[in-house]
Amino acid sequence: MSAGRRPLVAGNWKMHKTAPEAADWCEAFAPLVSAASAEVAVCPSFVALDAAARALAGTAVWVAAQNVSEHEAGAHTGEVSVAMIATSGARGAIVGHSERRAMGETDGVVAARARRLLDHDLTPIVCVGESLAQREAGETEAWLTHQVHASLALVAPAESSRIAVAYEPIWAIGTGRTATPEIAREAIAHIRAVLGERLDAEAIRVLYGGSVTPENAAELMAQPDIDGALVGGASLDPAGFATIVLAA
Ligand code: PGA
Repeated sequence: MSAGRRPLVAGNWKMHKTAPEAADWCEAFAPLVSAASAEVAVCPSFVALDAAARALAGTAVWVAAQNVSEHEAGAHTGEVSVAMIATSGARGAIVGHSERRAMGETDGVVAARARRLLDHDLTPIVCVGESLAQREAGETEAWLTHQVHASLALVAPAESSRIAVAYEPIWAIGTGRTATPEIAREAIAHIRAVLGERLDAEAIRVLYGGSVTPENAAELMAQPDIDGALVGGASLDPAGFATIVLAA
């Protein structure tokens, strides 16, 4: 964490929790983090956004979607627009998660989604990260350079403080194989240097994601340049996720 940037801890529930389950989770969770110094967001499925946002009304915890369409509206069967998530209570969305990129989402699509969110005054949480093969081949920095530039190509420098970036090494997601604090710090320092080539890097929160747990969260988030966490599996339990939030 660094002076001037308030940490953000976001929970990515992936394809878990129905709307009633989301509401119950939020009611249990909100009181546990009322004294948190970090900003907190939860990312339910599209159909649970409204229930989560209602359950969190009057608290500082905000709600974000896990994805969103790059299109404003139109003949896009099965897609969900920024206006739709916004009116369901979302204030942002994850874009470019590796589980989405693995289904064919390109950097161009990710960039367009981030742009569309900003156009509606919502916060994009833009994910980047290398595969194990890329890390072992020594290609991590070159890949992150490419992904950061391409995924944020449509963000204007003056909008820097309105985005967050999540460094999520693919080999650490859902594997229990967390990046060491050193690996996370080095990669995020590189990402911030790349951000600084075009944007106001000091204004951008860069989170770490990949097997963050209540046990390892404090050490990861104590690293310089790591401004919070994007938490998958460990965000499903309100008490465990609250422990992570309070460690930031
Ligand atoms: P994980 O997922 O914490 O379960 O590894 C992180 C993510 O995919 O955002």
